[in-house]
Amino acid sequence: MKIAIAADHGGFELKGVIIKHLEEKGFEVINLGTDTPDSVDYSDFAEKCASEVLDGNVAFGIVVCGTGIGISIAANKINGIRCALCHSPETAALAKQHNNANIISLGGRTTSDEMALKIVDAFMEAEFEGGRHQRRVDKIMALETK
Ligand code: RB5
Repeated sequence: MKIAIAADHGGFELKGVIIKHLEEKGFEVINLGTDTPDSVDYSDFAEKCASEVLDGNVAFGIVVCGTGIGISIAANKINGIRCALCHSPETAALAKQHNNANIISLGGRTTSDEMALKIVDAFMEAEFEGGRHQRRVDKIMALETK
């Protein structure tokens, strides 16, 4: 399984922790940057990650900024993206089970390394439940034409 990950300067350190964790588990990770504390714009990195997801190159994406807020808002502007800002393993599992999120967002300044790894693992272990949730996801995606 391939996973894309991108971050701004507020999230690049946590990004490194997540990459190490995923690679140790045997997953291939596409690191889309940034890799330094120099200031960048999170919208650019949301776009890079969304492109990998929409091109079908990866199973899902992970984005990280200081709070996870700006980069998730930016990702959700792109047609086809369902980006969920997750703060716990429970919300991460539900983001997959109910919302079929294709990107998860984390806050590098608001979420500990340990919690972030639990969030990533919970998302990866969960399955989309379909059924009534599929109808709701379809309605979300229909809003893209508004
Ligand atoms: C960058 O300083 C910061 O605004 C960004 O990482 C993020 O927290 C925005 O939502």
